[in-house]
Amino acid sequence: MKYSLPTKIIFGEKTTSQLPKELVEANVHRPLVICGKHFINSGKYRWLEENLGFFDTFSEIEANPGTASVDAAARFMNERGCDGVIGIGGGSILDSAKVVACMRGMKGSVRSFYGKTKIKPGAPFFALPTTSGSGSEVTKYSVLTLPSGEKKSLHNDSFYAKVAIVDPELTYTCPPQTTASSGIDAFCQSIEAYWARNAIPETDEHARKAIELAYGSLVKTVKDPDRYVRKDMALASLNSGMAFGQTGTSACHTLSYAFTKHYGLVHGFAVAITLPWFFEFYSQKRKQRCLEICSFIGAKSIEEGKEKILGLMKAIGAPTRLDDIGCPRSDFPKIIAISVAQRPQNPRKHTKKDLEKLLNDIY
Ligand SMILES: [Fe+2]
Repeated sequence: MKYSLPTKIIFGEKTTSQLPKELVEANVHRPLVICGKHFINSGKYRWLEENLGFFDTFSEIEANPGTASVDAAARFMNERGCDGVIGIGGGSILDSAKVVACMRGMKGSVRSFYGKTKIKPGAPFFALPTTSGSGSEVTKYSVLTLPSGEKKSLHNDSFYAKVAIVDPELTYTCPPQTTASSGIDAFCQSIEAYWARNAIPETDEHARKAIELAYGSLVKTVKDPDRYVRKDMALASLNSGMAFGQTGTSACHTLSYAFTKHYGLVHGFAVAITLPWFFEFYSQKRKQRCLEICSFIGAKSIEEGKEKILGLMKAIGAPTRLDDIGCPRSDFPKIIAISVAQRPQNPRKHTKKDLEKLLNDIY
């Protein structure tokens, strides 16, 4: 695998101020801002009004965004004749905005992108994360929810942002639970990138940095944030995206879709709930890699590493057992049915039996 990332990355406090210049350089005259509803009442939105000139706003994207909302945003963009897309928000907003940008001039639904390998580049996309976790600003991935309720990932080189502006100040107002769930997502994604079969030295370096930063700063960012830990977590999230954006994620993410779909568990907590179990499971196949992960978080053995990961989850209020999220044993067959699919980068294949053991172990 070769490392490839076409996105220009601008990182640091107050870097949002560089957005107008970047739009001019990209020849964007009428951008569409895609953001959450609450963002419209923020000081940052007023700053956009004062500094961007003319733009349109779409704020109807929900958490775990559905293809219908993405289609509505694309229709709005095309009706208004927008020539660029600015996504300001968490992973759901950024995952949606990157595909909306590719739907410029298009009449059909985003669902037509599934199964396609070639997607034409669309309008320039500018990504500004307001949470530290998804890393979506530097990935070509977009996870959308189909009308059936199934979450399905899309990926294409045309989805990459032209510019990612990672300004930690945009995360200052992020509430504790969102800080916790998005932060643990960054931590989990980085571990999944590190143990991936297709990891390369560049992804290892980004993953290591993200694991160390997130492990060291997440608890304080949730409980008593200051500008230093907010900056650490923004950097952790960015590095997480630069790692898993290349390798892909593994079984923690595969299983997470079932926990979000059936119990409404937020994405970050849904991926983390199986992380300690998979850490031990994968260590049986890739012990050296998992011991290296241990060293990043100050653990000397796989057992200690697993305990430290569990300790981090408990400290930020993440659920660690299925009983905590209202998942009864009778639901195990349906969770297993949608989770047996393998990803090529998984360090070890999991069977139906393995998943039964996993669910029983973490019940
Ligand atoms: Fe994730």
